[in-house]
Amino acid sequence: MPKFLVVYYSRTGHTEQVAKALAEKLGADLEPIREKRSRLGFLEYWRSGRESFLGILPTIEPSQHDPAGYDLVILGSPVWASQPSTPMRAYLAAHNNKLNSIACFVTLGGSGAQKTLARMADAAGKPAIATFSATERELKTGAWMEGLEQFVGAITGKG
Ligand SMILES: Cc1cc2nc3c(=O)[nH]c(=O)nc-3n(C[C@H](O)[C@H](O)[C@H](O)COP(=O)(O)O)c2cc1C
Repeated sequence: MPKFLVVYYSRTGHTEQVAKALAEKLGADLEPIREKRSRLGFLEYWRSGRESFLGILPTIEPSQHDPAGYDLVILGSPVWASQPSTPMRAYLAAHNNKLNSIACFVTLGGSGAQKTLARMADAAGKPAIATFSATERELKTGAWMEGLEQFVGAITGKG
């Protein structure tokens, strides 16, 4: 049985919703990327956008799982200004030399998915074996579930 780790950052819960569903389907371990400082509220939204635009990497809490111990690490992030969120960028800067193989997913309002997925693979230093994106609308209506099944199929080779 391959070992899977789902590493994700989520500010308002969308990416976490996908990460948890994936972990359940794959029997994967979960690694939420955490920070000491909250990002909730308008000023923090603005700070996050500025950080993303300027490429400022925040300090994140130490990881609970060693990604080197997994066959595949699945990376999940919201899209911030058509980029991976800065906590995810900080995680990748710290761990990109420990990733055996990756798959990537993003959640978003509506624009920037492909660019963000490409940036995640660049930061990880290797191509993703599978990618997936879900918009806020798809998450609300349930339309994301079909794409999730395809993503799981591509990861497990049963798609
Ligand atoms: C600072 C910031 C920038 C964002 N930029 C984009 C963007 O460029 N394109 C987009 O479609 N959504 C953008 N969004 C919306 C988020 O990607 C979307 O709400 C996502 O699902 C949030 O995931 P989360 O709940 O896991 O934090 C942005 C959100 C924030 C906070």
